[in-house]
Amino acid sequence: MAQKLIRGRLLSFKAEPRSIDDHDAYLFEEDGAVLVEDGVILASGSFAEVAAGAEAGHVVADHRPHLILPGFIDAHAHFPQMQVIASYGAELLDWLNNYTFPEETRFSDIQHGRHIARLFFDELLRNGTTTVAAYCSVHKESAEAFFGEALARNMCVVGGKVMMDRNAPAALTDTPQSSYDDTKALIGEWHGRGRLNYAVTPRFAITSSPEQLEMAAALMREFPDLHMQTHLSENHDEIALTAELYPDAPDYTGIYEQYGLLGPRALLGHCIHLSEREADVLSDTGSVAVFCPTSNLFLGSGLFDYLRYRKREKPLRLASATDVGGGTNYSMLRTMDEGYKVIALNGEKLNPLASFWQITRGNAEALSLSERVGTLEPGTDADIVVLNARATPVMALRMERIETLAEELFLLQTLADDRAIVETYVAGEAAKSAL
Ligand code: GUN
Ligand code: ZN
Repeated sequence: MAQKLIRGRLLSFKAEPRSIDDHDAYLFEEDGAVLVEDGVILASGSFAEVAAGAEAGHVVADHRPHLILPGFIDAHAHFPQMQVIASYGAELLDWLNNYTFPEETRFSDIQHGRHIARLFFDELLRNGTTTVAAYCSVHKESAEAFFGEALARNMCVVGGKVMMDRNAPAALTDTPQSSYDDTKALIGEWHGRGRLNYAVTPRFAITSSPEQLEMAAALMREFPDLHMQTHLSENHDEIALTAELYPDAPDYTGIYEQYGLLGPRALLGHCIHLSEREADVLSDTGSVAVFCPTSNLFLGSGLFDYLRYRKREKPLRLASATDVGGGTNYSMLRTMDEGYKVIALNGEKLNPLASFWQITRGNAEALSLSERVGTLEPGTDADIVVLNARATPVMALRMERIETLAEELFLLQTLADDRAIVETYVAGEAAKSAL
């Protein structure tokens, strides 16, 4: 395959920006390029230097004056909830019982799962998202559909069949043993194939019996390189019911702690109402708290205190995510716009450099995938998004007053959506324009 030179205004983060003036935290090239071969970045930097190193006959994709960034990463979404998004009028537990659980029962049918998986990945790519950590339904067929589609598109994803054995309709429950057996079979079939990563996925403590959490822990002991994803401390009624179901645990986090489910590969959705002890436990274990702003606002769950978690004496590792279909948008730009507002309600401001770090390198580090995705560094996979800050009349007009990169990023975060995604490359291949 010919080498491909992707030209434009290059932005890739080296570290978490501490302020809007932290220019050491990123690499920016006004006339930059990424050279790609066999899905991997061979070189990135100034166009002149990168082009000089390209072999004869290389293909050029000239995206000037647009921005070129690593593809966005969504650290928590539910692919069986595409037809749940925008369901009116409920907080978490009623929303699950009235809308989400009935919808997820449809995913026993692999044809339905395949149909929705195709649409799910189409939508991610339309929004510049190249990696997702996703929940499937309880049915192993749904995970087959999810991984089959991701493999066909050569995408780097994390996913798992949800384990849930109680407090849900019979059509949506497994058993401790069947969840163990199905998960193990899925790991054997999919984990490590292509760019796929399996996550052991107990839905949350309300829908998993102690016996099932023990099975999840057994799987994590057998396969310690896997991710573990679940929900934690999203909503007050959820927390109260969880305390009734696990009366011996010190708190909600303490349940997952006691079963040995926490650690650097544990991804915990929401984490809104944590005590100091719980935050300390997450920090001590290196677990990741996943911020899902559109969901938290939509379901009225609460305000995730992002900057307090980052700046406390024992800081938390953080990720950000859509949480579709509790979340209301597939775009990581829309997600960080709402995140900015949540943080503002907590009396602080998240600077736009930190926002874009979060949805690229930050989320890659949170998912322990930064060796492969989340930057434009040579040797990593060529998952790339191209952004047009003048995509709409409103954006173009605002751009007339913009002077700095940080201002341009903030405009994109505040005003852009899928219309600003010019192209999404998956392992060097143009995937959005091919939809
Ligand atoms: N907690 C348990 N399951 C879910 C889910 O599907 N969405 C959200 N937002 N929270 C949950
Ligand atoms: Zn969720």
